Amino acid sequence: ASEAEEHDVVVIGGGPGGYVAAIKAAQEGLKTACVEKRGALGGTCLNVGCIPSKSLLNNSHIYHQILHDVKNLGDVKLNLTQMMKAKEQSVSGLTKGIEYLFKKNGVDYVKGTGTITGEHEIKVNPLEDGDPQILRAKNIIIATGSEATPFPGLEIDETRIVTSTGAIALTKVPEKMVVIGGGIIGLEMGSVWSRLGSEVTVVEYLGAIGGPGMDAEMAKTMQRILQKQGMKFKLNTKVMGGDVESDNIKINVESAKGGKSETIDADVVLVAIGRRPYTAGLGLENVGIEVDERGRIVIDQEYRTKIPHIRVIGDVTFGAMLAHKAEEEGIAAVEYIKKGYGHVNYGAIPSVMYTHPEAAWVGQTEQEVKATGKAYNIGSFPFSANSRAKTNLDTEGMVKFITDKETDRILGIHIIGPNAGEMIAEGVLAMEYGASSEDIGRTSHAHPTLSEAFKEAAMAAFSKPIHS
Ligand code: FAD
Ligand code: NAI
Repeated sequence: ASEAEEHDVVVIGGGPGGYVAAIKAAQEGLKTACVEKRGALGGTCLNVGCIPSKSLLNNSHIYHQILHDVKNLGDVKLNLTQMMKAKEQSVSGLTKGIEYLFKKNGVDYVKGTGTITGEHEIKVNPLEDGDPQILRAKNIIIATGSEATPFPGLEIDETRIVTSTGAIALTKVPEKMVVIGGGIIGLEMGSVWSRLGSEVTVVEYLGAIGGPGMDAEMAKTMQRILQKQGMKFKLNTKVMGGDVESDNIKINVESAKGGKSETIDADVVLVAIGRRPYTAGLGLENVGIEVDERGRIVIDQEYRTKIPHIRVIGDVTFGAMLAHKAEEEGIAAVEYIKKGYGHVNYGAIPSVMYTHPEAAWVGQTEQEVKATGKAYNIGSFPFSANSRAKTNLDTEGMVKFITDKETDRILGIHIIGPNAGEMIAEGVLAMEYGASSEDIGRTSHAHPTLSEAFKEAAMAAFSKPIHS
């Protein structure tokens, strides 16, 4: 090994958690290195997650919209190769952008696999042949992310039995696709291939789609909308296994309550039953850092493991597996190191599902509020009564506010609708400031915009909306 290099902070993992932490640390004047083994920065999100999936969602939506909704505008023909090229362009532009930001801020980008070999020592095995490099660090931030949870008995080959990584890179539109798991990945990637012509069947173990955290009323509404678009759903259904034949895959399913079983044919199967923390090769055992029963690295409220100068952020530890959550934690962890305090408001982290229409939410679901026993108000407003949505011929969905009946403080906001992912930002800000629905209902929103539906749902929570 070459001679050890001393840093104030070494970040292991260059995803949204890790690269943001590294840039922030360098901005704070700390000598910082970021170790990444993928050969590109940006982690799961930029390389095989958020960004490529949104590129495909956007382009497949445009294709589908022209094909089905506005036929009279002209013919359209799918060029899948071009669609994939556009995706690759977005990914490479953004990952190179982070490399530029590293240079600009003076972060050392160390390419290789990092293993913790001592409380202050990381050994980096380079991507290509060569000697390992030893880094010494006053502080270590682990941000190694997550990987797809495999389905026992179905071996992933990323061409026919795929995770999201294979599903963003198929070379032809499958005739029939079975999606195991009706969570966010299943619905986003299922939407992409359904729009491009696949017959998509989503098999979900629970009685509702959307994964953990979606408001029950919203999940039902979303299912109805996606069904109208052609997706099929088998809820309360267990996948028992599959037979992979040379030209067909047979997926055997059974009612979750037992009994009725059937076989569904597919040429591609997407396994989307959740993600799990990724710590392989990290060397946690070398320093005795613990993981819980789900593989998440155990930390305290300041992101510290039991070795206080080793902190953990993002998908590899507790909380929602979201890029922006990892980023907030990256900044907070560095602030703890530099200043001794940091903060993330876990009650105001938005979730967005980028189907069409999008689903977005922040705060508590109605079922969660109900379970607390607190008296609450609901204010909702449909996009079918919003002038801009009507003008755009895009009227599916609604905005729903849940407020404290006594104080009118907002407890949760749930949106299904065009651009819901942008609109939720106003709700997140409102919750950060502890706003009431009246605060929003009395705030002027431009006309004609979709955001007027947001305002009117707020009005519905404390008074009455005007337009419905
Ligand atoms: P990651 O992004 O997983 O990054 C960890 C990095 O660490 C990886 O690049 C890995 O190579 C590297 N690494 C691991 N071990 C080592 C080691 N020992 N040495 C060196 N490097 C190592 N979230 C959203 O908020 N919005 C979305 O729209 C969204 N879409 C998604 C779509 C898909 C298909 C998927 C799979 C995920 C999506 N997510 C989305 C989730 C998001 O990608 C993750 O929450 C986010 O990437 C987590 O960031 P992270 O920094 O914790 O980990
Ligand atoms: P998920 O947790 O969202 O959904 C998994 C679904 O699979 C759940 O509905 C679950 O009940 C179901 N399931 C589990 N085991 C099953 C089984 N054996 N048979 C049938 N169904 C089963 O996980 P998903 O969709 O894999 O995504 C992983 C994570 O990635 C998400 O939780 C999210 O944090 C992140 N992500 C975020 C996106 C976004 O923000 N837009 C997009 C894609 C992923």
